[in-house]
Amino acid sequence: MNAFPFFFNTFVFMKILLTGANGGVGTVVRQMALDTEGIDLVPCSREALDVLDSNALKAALLKHKPDYVINAAAFTQVDRAEVEQQEAFRLNVECLKGMVDACNQVGAVLIHLSTDYVFDGKKTTPYTEENKESPINVYGASKLAGEQVVLAYGNGIIVRTSWVYSLHSKNFLAAVPRLLRTKKEPLQVENTQVNSPTFAPHLVEALFALVQKNVRRGLYHFTNTGGGCTRYEFACRVRDKILEKEPGAVLAPVIPFGPEWQEPPGTAPRPLYSVMSPDKIAKQLGLEVPHWEEGIDFII
Ligand SMILES: NC(=O)c1ccc[n+]([C@@H]2O[C@H](COP(=O)([O-])OP(=O)(O)OC[C@H]3O[C@@H](n4cnc5c(N)ncnc54)[C@H](OP(=O)(O)O)[C@@H]3O)[C@@H](O)[C@H]2O)c1
Repeated sequence: MNAFPFFFNTFVFMKILLTGANGGVGTVVRQMALDTEGIDLVPCSREALDVLDSNALKAALLKHKPDYVINAAAFTQVDRAEVEQQEAFRLNVECLKGMVDACNQVGAVLIHLSTDYVFDGKKTTPYTEENKESPINVYGASKLAGEQVVLAYGNGIIVRTSWVYSLHSKNFLAAVPRLLRTKKEPLQVENTQVNSPTFAPHLVEALFALVQKNVRRGLYHFTNTGGGCTRYEFACRVRDKILEKEPGAVLAPVIPFGPEWQEPPGTAPRPLYSVMSPDKIAKQLGLEVPHWEEGIDFII
């Protein structure tokens, strides 16, 4: 029985080559492919396939002849990208030219993940695919340039997502339950950036739905619904949900950073509001995208 309401059970057979298979998203793609009828996944970790090596990419695609490539390999460290610009652009842009060439030689569709950080955060309502991009940090600029390489390919799909978390993620959202249970002092959390948390299995279901419906090009936003939240609001909701399940659990209180709080030096600027609307992909694929609170039940 599937835990998610919009899951498709009747897949036709599709072969997908996955890069970055040991990352946060890649791990969930691997796990869900095992339980998904009709998906034949060729998972490639960095050791198995270095996406910076265009010859290796060509050889892997010629060998496996996938219908789709899901590229989950990327330079994802937002703060480090400010000082390692060349590395960020090499992985998030340059290598995509080789990936597109490799896909082209076997006619594979390339699904590439991108980010809400392509936006500057000046809007106050959810960003759609029609909105103009204007990144304010190096990571966002590199991801936007990468999008352009993929979208120029006739069989290229961009899926922008944000704040992806699961039990396997190594980020703040995924760490909140553990921090609440172990911290002796209050958990102080940032409360100004509004973003859409995205539970990784919900994202992966949407990626598999693109494959199953044989979508071959386009730009899409996928995040959970609910209008987004701050990290502080997310942490409060996690705390409430733990207490609903375990009344009496001993948890650290959650408090927002005050207005005097400053980001540590070296922190990249981030958009203040980067909630995205998943309406386009939901309508096109017939998905009912869950509220961001729904993923929390799976990580507490
Ligand atoms: N997580 C989020 O909140 C979020 C939000 C918006 C967009 N995205 C996008 O979603 C995608 C996946 O993100 P993620 O969270 O899964 O990132 P992640 O956990 O950092 O995983 C990235 C993966 O890329 C691999 N990699 C790095 N260099 C490589 C190379 N040269 N060849 C092959 N693989 C290489 C890494 O390998 P190692 O494990 O060996 O380092 C790692 O497994 C990225 O495009 C990211 O921009 C993520």
